[in-house]
Amino acid sequence: MTMVLSLVKAIHLLALVFGSVAALGNIYLGLAKGPHDLAAPGFNNTLRKAYRYTSLFAIIALWGSGIVLLLTYGGWVPGFAFTAKILLVALMTAIIFFMNLMAPSWARNGGPPSYVPILSWINAISLLSIVTLAAFAFG
Ligand code: HEM
Repeated sequence: MTMVLSLVKAIHLLALVFGSVAALGNIYLGLAKGPHDLAAPGFNNTLRKAYRYTSLFAIIALWGSGIVLLLTYGGWVPGFAFTAKILLVALMTAIIFFMNLMAPSWARNGGPPSYVPILSWINAISLLSIVTLAAFAFG
């Protein structure tokens, strides 16, 4: 059983690795605006789509593995850190599903609205906070 749980924990951490590439990748893409920046909409859109799907895959894997791990703690971890972690995970989940749901219609209607970069920032800051909170929640 401990082997299985270690594997589930590895899945949790690996999904975090993939999720962080997607969350931070979007931020770096947004910051990559120099004088040398050549317009490459096809390249950017392909990268954004990869990040979007990666985020979706990662957050689903994080919930799946997280719920299994949580069973070993009797279903919940009391205290501020874990509660705050789950609230931020819920926020990230909402942002990721919203982006994945809306992206095709934004693409058809002249690109994403101007608040989308703000959502990317909220997403990335939430991820960094969640990892910090997880460290405190589980010592
Ligand atoms: C963006 C989403 C998430 C991130 C970035 C994340 C990150 C982490 C990290 C870094 C750890 C290791 C902490 C340590 O061992 O000190 C951890 C452990 C854990 N996470 Fe998550 N997590 C996420 C979502 C979830 C969800 C949705 C749940 C439950 C529903 C969950 C439940 C747990 C549990 C129970 C552990 C302890 C595992 C153990 O050591 O036995 N996590 N998480």
